[in-house]
Amino acid sequence: MLVSAKDMLNKARDGKYAVGQFNINNLEWTKAILQTAQEQNSPVILGVSEGAGKYMCGYKTVVGMVKGMIDSLGITVPVALHLDHGSFEGAKACINAGFSSIMFDGSHLPFEENFAKTTALVNTCDVLGLSLEAEVGAIGGEEDGVVGMGECADPEECKKIADLGVTMLAAGIGNIHGKYPANWAGLSFETLEAIKAKVGDMPLVLHGGTGIPDDQIKKAISLGVAKINVNTECQLVFQEATRKYIEAGKDLEGKGFDPRKLLAPGFEAIKAKVKEKMEIFGSVGKA
Ligand code: 13P
Repeated sequence: MLVSAKDMLNKARDGKYAVGQFNINNLEWTKAILQTAQEQNSPVILGVSEGAGKYMCGYKTVVGMVKGMIDSLGITVPVALHLDHGSFEGAKACINAGFSSIMFDGSHLPFEENFAKTTALVNTCDVLGLSLEAEVGAIGGEEDGVVGMGECADPEECKKIADLGVTMLAAGIGNIHGKYPANWAGLSFETLEAIKAKVGDMPLVLHGGTGIPDDQIKKAISLGVAKINVNTECQLVFQEATRKYIEAGKDLEGKGFDPRKLLAPGFEAIKAKVKEKMEIFGSVGKA
């Protein structure tokens, strides 16, 4: 069964750990993340960007795959299926398709429009028992065509959106999607503290989890971050493991061309990466 992310994030905030959101791209990705969450007895959030949703043949296919897998793999830890950086239209489509959690990213819109559209979704998600993530201050970098500048969110705007009653809030604190440049200044804890002081109990979301040093992750959690998104890092370890397999000529040995063999090293690499992240985030044993 899919659950809203509300309870898991409130527990994480109170227990000073974070739940990982790991983005999915296909069956192997989804299976690797779900199995690891079960083995680690950790709550988990499966993130689906609009691009990945399209790639996987639409949101209904994703819901069918994830629900089927939870059932046939015997997954009992809390799992939320979450739209990542959704448009207003994407949010409506995922609500209709059966997602249990929605992110509406209006951070690139004029604030009044972000506010109005988030308000509409707060009411809908509330009635349906879905969790809702809003965003203030665009996250830098590029993800599926969504480009941001790595800004720091305005704490006053964060408070206005938090007060609407969203479940969780993503706020730019100098984080970016994808690999961090060598000259990256690091997370702005000043901004994080100022936001936290304004939004009170609201669980905060840290995007761009790939490549943030562990000490900064831990500090962010201590300052109110309860959800951390990781995408690129799983892609990189999958790529590296697959490359090694092919470069070692293993695809040419016996039935090494069988996709179930060819994709196995990448699958195992994702599992190891997700386990490592869950340990750093502190969510192991918290299901
Ligand atoms: P990374 O790809 O940098 O890990 O960011 C993931 C993310 O924030 C998804 O919303």
